[in-house]
Amino acid sequence: MVSVRALTERDLDAAVELHLEVLHMEFLSRFGPRFMRSYYHAWISSPGSLALAAVDESESLLGVLLGASDPAHHVRAMVRDHGLTMGATLVGHALVHPGLAKDLIVTRGWRYTRGVARLVKNRLSRRPSTNPPSSGPVIGEITHVLVDPSSQGRGVGRALVEESVREARAKGVQELQLVTPPDMAAQHFYERLGWRSSGAMQSRSGENFLRYSFTL
Ligand SMILES: CC(C)(COP(=O)(O)OP(=O)(O)OC[C@H]1O[C@@H](n2cnc3c(N)ncnc32)[C@H](O)[C@@H]1OP(=O)(O)O)[C@@H](O)C(=O)NCCC(=O)NCCS
Repeated sequence: MVSVRALTERDLDAAVELHLEVLHMEFLSRFGPRFMRSYYHAWISSPGSLALAAVDESESLLGVLLGASDPAHHVRAMVRDHGLTMGATLVGHALVHPGLAKDLIVTRGWRYTRGVARLVKNRLSRRPSTNPPSSGPVIGEITHVLVDPSSQGRGVGRALVEESVREARAKGVQELQLVTPPDMAAQHFYERLGWRSSGAMQSRSGENFLRYSFTL
């Protein structure tokens, strides 16, 4: 029996282990368990997150979903409150892995440097970063869905996504969006769950993705 509940601090070791196993090909996974733990901690403790755990009767972790009901607010809070810790862990790992450091600089160096500079400037001036409230539909996002390989194909992913839809709806979200790499089978999974494909896109780091959306 699968149940879905909020992902909490006590799930973090198991969640990071599962993430590194299932999504080992993801860029951030290359920074190892210490960085991923700081990333997960930042994710779940920043306002505006959607973070769910699928567990069995004995509370073993079967799957994880990460997303945000208010992505812009969530990412700002993550960077503001946890950016320096995550940045230090990321750079510390990159320093002893030169190949990874090179990829980091080539694909994200300039963007991350600007982010850190903005963060330090805001800290020094004690000014909270502000953005005007956006008009239009409230759009949330799902960033990761991962299920333990031995539990895949048994409805765990569906249970996670359906619970995220319920939670997002309760928070006033009108549409959920996600992207998935074109070479992963997840696109069929999302289509099966009623998500609409809205074409291809390239991330700021140059990776190709397919876009999906779901109206709540
Ligand atoms: C993609 C993933 C999250 C799906 O989770 P899951 O628990 O295996 O999927 P479910 O059993 O809940 O399947 C839900 C529906 O999607 C369908 N589906 C799932 N994976 C599918 C696939 N690869 N191809 C076609 N259909 C698929 C199932 O048949 C099912 O349909 P049904 O309910 O009508 O029978 C999981 O396989 C996974 O973790 N994959 C690796 C990581 C990944 O790709 N994550 C997504 C990108 S971040």
